[in-house]
Amino acid sequence: MIRLSARLAAVAALVPAGASVVDVGTDHAMVPVWLVQTGVSAHVLATDIRPGPLQSAAALLERTGTGDRIHLMQTDGLAGIAPGAYDTVIIAGMGGETMVSILSAAPWTRSGVLLILEPQSKQAELRRFLVESGYAISTERLVADAGRIYPILTARGGVSPEYSQAELHLGRLEQIGTDPLFGRYLDAARAQAAKAAPFDAAAAKLLEEYDEIRRGLDHDHSC
Ligand SMILES: C[S@@+](CC[C@H](N)C(=O)[O-])C[C@H]1O[C@@H](n2cnc3c(N)ncnc32)[C@H](O)[C@@H]1O
Repeated sequence: MIRLSARLAAVAALVPAGASVVDVGTDHAMVPVWLVQTGVSAHVLATDIRPGPLQSAAALLERTGTGDRIHLMQTDGLAGIAPGAYDTVIIAGMGGETMVSILSAAPWTRSGVLLILEPQSKQAELRRFLVESGYAISTERLVADAGRIYPILTARGGVSPEYSQAELHLGRLEQIGTDPLFGRYLDAARAQAAKAAPFDAAAAKLLEEYDEIRRGLDHDHSC
């Protein structure tokens, strides 16, 4: 059985049993191999925009004997994938802006599809796109891996509640606020905003919001 990093294990754990999955930007196809080895999925489509990663993926499929259950495809995002053919789309390990561009080109993902997203940057842009484009974020998770904290979220087509600026950056408080890593994640975001605040009014405003959330957490812990 393949061993996943903590980050990829947390992504894979969100895939429902029996899901038909596309893993976009699969690179070595670690998650697809784990999904079929564990029986979570019978078949997975693993895509990448570049041929090099797909060669690594093909080598892993060969080594693990999973090539009969994982189909490899070179494509940009979800281009060429028939709407309705898959019920779960994973996009992990890319910038939030790339995810926005992939999802903007595939509006069918608003109908009956579970998105599992692990953005490595521009998380606020991704959440803003989702809440303004007919998706509702259903889960927010944080995972620590090799000294970094990664946010992972799931979303489906739906009507979203409003988000504050801080929630666009951190996740909606009612979904993320009780995560054991939230305090550390908030403090890292706060430190970043504090650096920019003297020169940037938006960062200063964000810092105020972060401080208020921090006071709320401290109050909850002191009760
Ligand atoms: C850093 S790797 C992440 C691999 C794996 N998903 C993970 O989370 O460990 C990003 C992969 O996404 C691929 N990629 C980047 N933009 C893409 C796009 N628009 N469509 C498909 N794949 C893309 C890259 O070629 C690369 O293999």
